[in-house]
Amino acid sequence: MPETCKLNLDGKEYELPVVTGTENEKAIDISKLRATTGYITLDDGFANTGSCQSSITYIDGEKGILRYRGYPVEQLAENCTFTEVAYLLIFGELPDEANRKNWWDLLTEHELLHEDMRHHFEGFPATAHPMAILSAMINANSCFYPHLMDLDDETFVDAAARIVSKVRTISAFAYRKSMGLPRIYPRPDYSYTANFLHMMFSLPNKDYDLRPEVVKALSELLILHADHEQNCSTSTVRMVGSAQANLFASVAAGVCALWGSLHGGANQQVLEMLQNIRECGESLDKVVERAKDKSDPFRLYGFGHRVYKNFDPRAKIIKKACDELLEVLHIDDPLLDIAKRLEEVALSDEYFIERKLYPNVDFYSGIILRAIGIPLNMFTVMFAIGRVPGWVAHWREVHTDPSGRIYRPRQVYQGENERSIAPLEKRGA
Ligand code: CMC
Repeated sequence: MPETCKLNLDGKEYELPVVTGTENEKAIDISKLRATTGYITLDDGFANTGSCQSSITYIDGEKGILRYRGYPVEQLAENCTFTEVAYLLIFGELPDEANRKNWWDLLTEHELLHEDMRHHFEGFPATAHPMAILSAMINANSCFYPHLMDLDDETFVDAAARIVSKVRTISAFAYRKSMGLPRIYPRPDYSYTANFLHMMFSLPNKDYDLRPEVVKALSELLILHADHEQNCSTSTVRMVGSAQANLFASVAAGVCALWGSLHGGANQQVLEMLQNIRECGESLDKVVERAKDKSDPFRLYGFGHRVYKNFDPRAKIIKKACDELLEVLHIDDPLLDIAKRLEEVALSDEYFIERKLYPNVDFYSGIILRAIGIPLNMFTVMFAIGRVPGWVAHWREVHTDPSGRIYRPRQVYQGENERSIAPLEKRGA
C-alpha cells in the first residue's frame, strides 16, 4: 500500500501521497492540492519545499553528509580529479579508462574561446567584477554555438565539455584583463586545474611554477564546490532551464545568483571581514556581538547554512587542506589565525549554539585561495568554476525529465483590492 497522509481542511478530509527517497527522506506530494482543495502551501524562502526529485546529490544536514551520485565527498576529494568528479555529476558514473580519456580530450579540444570573443573582453572596464564578465561571456557562448541549442545525447556531451572547459579560460582571461596583462592560452598537456593556474599566472616570457601541492589543493577545492543540490544558484539554473532556455543561458543565470553575498559571494565577504578585523584591530567578541545585533545588517560571513545544522563536511575538509597547504608553502597567514579564533568565539556563543550556526564552505576557502595567489575579487569565480558541473547536471536532469514542467510557483497576494483610476488632479501624493 503506498503511504499517504491525511489533511483536514474546512471539515473535509483529504489523503495526500507520501514520497519516500532512496535515503528514506519523506515528502508530502501536494501537486494536486490546489486542484482538490483550492489551497496552496506557503513557504517563504522554500525552506520546507522539495522542488523536484533528483538523483545527483544527497545531503543529510543533521549528520553532515554530502554525496555526489552516492559517493561521499570526502572520498571523491581524496581520490579523484576535478574532471572525473565533473564527469560523475554530469553522466552519473565515474569514468572508466576509455571515458576518462575521451572526456579529457573533449575538454582539451574545447578549452579555447572563439577568437571573436576577444572583442567582448575589450568592452568591459578594467574595474568590472569578474563575476559580471563570467556570466556575460557564458551567455555569449549561446551566440557562437547556436547549433548546441537543441541538444540530443551526442551534442549534449559536446556542449557540457565546452562549458566546463571554457569557464576556466573565460575566468582566467577576465583576470588578465583586469590586470592589463596579455592573455595566456591553455596548454593541451596540462590538467584542468594546472591549465587554469597557467592561464592565470604565466607570463609570455616566464611559465608559472606549477607546484603539485597547489594543483591538488585547488582541484580538491573545486570538487568540494561541484554540487550542492537545490541551493539558490542551482535552483536558478533549473528554473531558467525549465522554460527550455539553453544550457549557456541557464548557467549564466546561475552565475548571477551565486554572486550574491549570502551565497557564493560569501567567500569574498569572509576575507574582507577578516582583513577588516586585522586592520582595525576590532576585538573578536565585538565582531560576534555585531553579528548578533538584529539592527546591524552585518552577519558573520562563512557561518550558518540552510541545510547543515551540525557541521558542513566541506568546511572540515577545507580547514585541514588549508593547514596542510600553508605548511607546505611556508606561509604564516595572520588571517588564518584570526579565522580560527573567530570560529572558537562564535562556537562558544549561546546565539550561535542555539541557532546551530557552524562554519560553512566559505569560511576557510578564501585562505587557501589567498595562499595560491588568487585575488579577492576572483574568489566567487572560483566557486563558479567548481559549481559548473553541478549546474550542467541539474540542467540536464530538468531537460530529460519526461514529466518535467515549467517551474512556476504561486503566491499569496497581499496588495490592494480592486480600485479605479482617479483623474490626475484628484490623485493623492
Ligand atoms: N551571522 C549571524 N546570524 C546568523 C547567521 C550569520 N552568519 N546566519 C544565520 N543567522 C541567524 C539569523 O539571523 C536567524 O536568526 P533569528 O532566528 O534570530 O532570526 C537564524 O540564524 C537563522 O538564519 P536564517 O537567515 O533564517 O537562515 P537561512 O537558512 O535563511 O540562511 C544563510 C542561511 C547561509 C544565508 C545564513 O546562515 C547566512 O546569511 N550566512 C552568512 C552568509 C554565508 O556564509 N553564506 C554562505 C552559505 S554556504 C555556501 C553557499 O552555499 O552559498
